[in-house]
Amino acid sequence: MLTRRSFVAGTVLAGGTAFAAASIWRAAAAEPQKLRIPDLIDARRHGQPIALRAQAGRTSFFPGQESRTLGYNGNYLGPTLRVHRGDDVEIAVTNALGEDTTVHWHGLLIPGELDGGPHQMIRQGATWRPMLPIRQPAATLWYHSHVHGRTAEQVYAGLSGLLLVTDDDEKALGLPSEYGLDDLPLVLQDRQFEDGRLVLPDGMMAQMHGRRGDTLLVNGTVNPVARVPRRLVRLRLVNGSNARIYHLAFEDGRPFHWIASEGGLLERPVELRSLSLAPGERAEILVDFADGRSIVLETGMDTNAPMMMGMLARASDLITGREPVLRFEPQGEEETGAKVPERLMAHERLDVSRVVRRRRFAMTMGMGGMMRGMMDGGMGMHGINGCAFDMERIDEEVRLGDVEIWEVSGAMMAHPFHVHGVHFEMLSRNGAAPGPRDQGLRDTVVVQEPVELLVRFTQPAVAAPFMYHCHILEHEDNGMMGQFVVR
Ligand code: C2O
Ligand code: CU
Ligand code: CU
Repeated sequence: MLTRRSFVAGTVLAGGTAFAAASIWRAAAAEPQKLRIPDLIDARRHGQPIALRAQAGRTSFFPGQESRTLGYNGNYLGPTLRVHRGDDVEIAVTNALGEDTTVHWHGLLIPGELDGGPHQMIRQGATWRPMLPIRQPAATLWYHSHVHGRTAEQVYAGLSGLLLVTDDDEKALGLPSEYGLDDLPLVLQDRQFEDGRLVLPDGMMAQMHGRRGDTLLVNGTVNPVARVPRRLVRLRLVNGSNARIYHLAFEDGRPFHWIASEGGLLERPVELRSLSLAPGERAEILVDFADGRSIVLETGMDTNAPMMMGMLARASDLITGREPVLRFEPQGEEETGAKVPERLMAHERLDVSRVVRRRRFAMTMGMGGMMRGMMDGGMGMHGINGCAFDMERIDEEVRLGDVEIWEVSGAMMAHPFHVHGVHFEMLSRNGAAPGPRDQGLRDTVVVQEPVELLVRFTQPAVAAPFMYHCHILEHEDNGMMGQFVVR
């Protein structure tokens, strides 16, 4: 069967020669597989420190075909860490990769030297032991490699995992929270395969627009099927892709409730029928499977893909415009489980009158950015405000406790803008009031039209700076990143 995915991949990503082979391979490999659920390590049940070992391994994404991959405590991805608000959690990260790495706690509000950015290098054979103070509300966070220049390759190979913060307020809401049963972690990734083996797309296209692949994985599973109880189920959606933006919806168009943004629970649930998720973004949703019908979560075309791929996708859209992400198979009898709560979490709004300063960040890409980057002594082809990232240069200095407006814009495509060590709120998008999907506390937001973010700086970054960057990992590695201190 000629699918759009094999068509696009065969013609563009693999250069045409793999066209026939890819589509034959895909037909043979269409067997559904049980959704993998990463092991759960609960920091209150587990002794400390919690050991995380970054290591190389082999993974059979397709039966009988082994790929070389990276993982934490395993072959691909890492265990889910569950931590409790108020606790101090010690993690011992050992690097057994044979190359340098770092582990960044994306979304955790902790001081700069614990953050795991490019400055907290873990050399081959070494162990890094940060003690993480968990002082923020319940949220779905994640951890991943952040070694400068190699983040995209290490994450692509498998170096990421989930970090769930829980607290008493969240527990009191009675949301579905049986891990792996009615509370499912879902790491969405696209990866490129040849003859069933993972390959790393490279070349100008991959560096310009970010790496994409012809196959969707959920928790590292190809053609995944999840068994779920016939009741309300919570999905923790994490875009762990290098560059792809997902436009998610159920095949029958059923509504679901969005309950948490990157920073944690919203004030009240928002009913939606579709939801977009850019790299680095997370969303928790509640879906009702009580009717017992098997249903597929699908994604629309990647509207952020390079022009040529976009055109091909649009032409073949006549064949099939959507592709499956994950099939749900409800099991057993209908149950009366949790209900969608009316209210979730009250938030104290940031006060615009407290804003002490405004800063502007323009994410720039392409030849212009490259020339300026080289003149500045950087080496990337992308940049922010025309400057490629430089480990030795501090770009901004912020005062601890301040509230600022960060005005962010992007060029040529949509860029997910991420800031370490803070939560922010959307103040405006394209000069207008933000939309329903822009609400809540966030640490990552997709920027196409210019946005204004209201940022509060509550964490010090003196011993080591925080990063802000585009979360298309190839853009980040190639210079679309800056750093700031908070004191
Ligand atoms: Cu998810 Cu700077 O990273
Ligand atoms: Cu981060
Ligand atoms: Cu970007």
